[in-house]
Amino acid sequence: MPVIRFVREGLDVECYPGENLREVALRAGVELYGLKGKLGNCGGCGQCITCFVGVADDGADQTGPPALSARTAVEDRKLQGRPQNWRLACQALVERSLVVLTRPQLGGGQGDALLAAASLTPLPAGPIAWPAPPETPQAKEEESATADEAEPDGPSAGDTVR
Ligand code: FES
Repeated sequence: MPVIRFVREGLDVECYPGENLREVALRAGVELYGLKGKLGNCGGCGQCITCFVGVADDGADQTGPPALSARTAVEDRKLQGRPQNWRLACQALVERSLVVLTRPQLGGGQGDALLAAASLTPLPAGPIAWPAPPETPQAKEEESATADEAEPDGPSAGDTVR
């Protein structure tokens, strides 16, 4: 399973293949946004251009599939003039392990150096910690019903049966 190394946060996070990078980051408590994005972001619609990330390994030098899904048309339009290894987290699906730098616009151009340094340590092989599935009201009801069914109607351990 893919492991995402968030360089700025010093965090390795596992996810399911095909998960949205923005959603994984937010679930893990990773701060994706700078001040502008914190004040108001589009919620993942690809419109606010505040969820930039820098990516160390986009699969270009690998023989396997790329780590992230291909750039979307929205990214092609919104990322014009930005470094080639920048992505919009809300538009990218994680296919295999990679190293990510959130808010790559910070740090005076040191982003690529940070990504390169973080890439020197191999990513752990998953699974390391599975994300908990989202809890739905239906799942809670089913769990409650299962617990009720487990209650024995007959004699309990301390009862005398004749
Ligand atoms: S969250 Fe707005 S562009 Fe990604």
